[in-house]
Order: sequence, then structure tokens, then C-alpha cells
Amino acid sequence: MAHINRHGITIHDAAEFEAMRRAGKLAAEVLDFITPCVKPGISTGALDTLCHDFIVKAGAIPAPLHYRGFPKSICTSVNEVICHGIPGEAHILKEGDILNIDITVILGGWHGDTSRMFPVGKISRKDELLIDATWEAMMRGICMVKPGATLGDIGHAIQNYAENTFPNEGKYAKYSIVTDFCGHGIGTVFHTAPNVLHYGKPGRGEVLEPGMFFTIEPMLNAGKPGAKIDTVDGWTARTKDRSNSAQFEHTLAVTETGYEIFTLSPKGWFKPPYKEMIG
Ligand code: MF3
Ligand code: CO
Ligand code: CO
Repeated sequence: MAHINRHGITIHDAAEFEAMRRAGKLAAEVLDFITPCVKPGISTGALDTLCHDFIVKAGAIPAPLHYRGFPKSICTSVNEVICHGIPGEAHILKEGDILNIDITVILGGWHGDTSRMFPVGKISRKDELLIDATWEAMMRGICMVKPGATLGDIGHAIQNYAENTFPNEGKYAKYSIVTDFCGHGIGTVFHTAPNVLHYGKPGRGEVLEPGMFFTIEPMLNAGKPGAKIDTVDGWTARTKDRSNSAQFEHTLAVTETGYEIFTLSPKGWFKPPYKEMIG
């Protein structure tokens, strides 16, 4: 049985790890399934319908649907949209767009939450570099996870990498970390303690213990870090400066020796280009 530690974070047992393996795998399978569909001319609404039906046929529930009033089953965040983009039939993807698809399924009562970036047709080199840096930032955060490390260690690894300088079309770029959204504890609840910040100082914050489940989901902006939520729909978060933004997300556990990622792609499609499906 799970128990709650003195900081209010749930510590899970072996059976609960097994349940999360199933939920996480399904969430990753949804992203694998939708990958070949992401092409110029398809609407984000069509992607939502396809994912919704896949999730329901697998015996699961799309967690975003009706979550705090969210109207759709997946989040689709294009270009300057940082996160929580709402799919729509009228939103047709065009060559050169960069898209994040964020999937959360509830399977047997457990949540699997994962997102990846998708290039729509041929994208700019600048956007390819932003996407690569975002994936690398996430993985550097994940690599810090082990018993005795802290949430600050994770945040620092992500921030320190993202705010480094990158060669970018003959110039050097720095990316910025979005601070308005964070990773989160997850399990039978979609969003719970702890908050997993994507910035921080080594040694600060909660100490990690085996049995903790949480997400790491950094958002990197090509420009400034500022975010603004759409006043009409109340969800869509855009960069204030309208620069492009990228995000990847995994759900993972702290284990006795390090970490276990629950949402790895069964097809090995971790980041673009998703070579094996092109053609
Ligand atoms: N999947 C998102 C996350 O990573 C949350 C989406 S909530 C929604 O936490 F309501 F926008 F779907
Ligand atoms: Co999440
Ligand atoms: Co998510």
C-alpha cells in the first residue's frame, strides 16, 4: 500500500509501479500511433478525434476531457503556443509548424502523462535546434533522478543546459525556461505534490525517495520566458513575445538506484526526426 511521507508526497509500492507501467506505456503508444498522421493539411481537431478513439478502444479515459473545463481529449500546442492548446477542426497544420501533442490517459485509475514535439513537414533549422535542446534539457533533468538527490538538482540541470549558448544558424542562441508551468506528482491523481520546477539550485527542494511518481516537462522558448493565457478560451498559453516554444514530457518514478521512465516510446520514437515512419 502507498503511504504519504512527511512532506505530503505519496510513496508507491511495487503493484502501483506495475499499474503505472501500463498507463505510461499506453500514453506513449498514443503518441506513436498519431505520429504518421502529423502532416500539413490535417487539423488538430482530427488528431484529437483519432487519439480520443484510440484511448477509449484501449479501455482508458483521456484525462484532459472535462478536466477543470478543458473541452478536448488532448492538448495540441503549435509554434508560439507553450502548452494547453485546444484542438479544433478549424486549426489546419501547415508546412513548417512545430506541434506539441500532450497525452494523458487514465488506465485502471492510474495516469500516464507524456508529450513530444512533431515537425509538420519541413521545419526551419532554428526550430529543429529548439526542439533538440528541449529534449536534451528534459533528459538532463531525468538523469539527475535518484534517491537522495533533490528537486532543485533536477531544475538546475534543466535550466543550466537551456540557458547555455547554442550554435544557431551561424549565431549563438540562448533559450529561456518557462517558469509559469511545472511538472507535477502523478498517480491516481492527475496533478498532485510535488511541483517539479524546471529551474532551481542544486541541493534545494524536496529530497527524492524511491516510490515517488512525477512528471518532468520543460518548456523552452526561443525568445523571452514570458507566458500569457488566452483571455477568450482561458487555456491556451502563448509566449508573450510570440517566439516559438517547445516541450517534451515523461512520467517517471524514483527507484532504489535511480529512475524508471514509464512513458518511453515502444517504437523508439523519442524525438524528431521520427525516421522509421517517414516514407
Ligand atoms: N497534460 C498536461 C500536463 O502535462 C495537463 C493538461 S491539463 C488540460 O500536466 F486540461 F489542459 F488538459
Ligand atoms: Co504533466
Ligand atoms: Co502532459
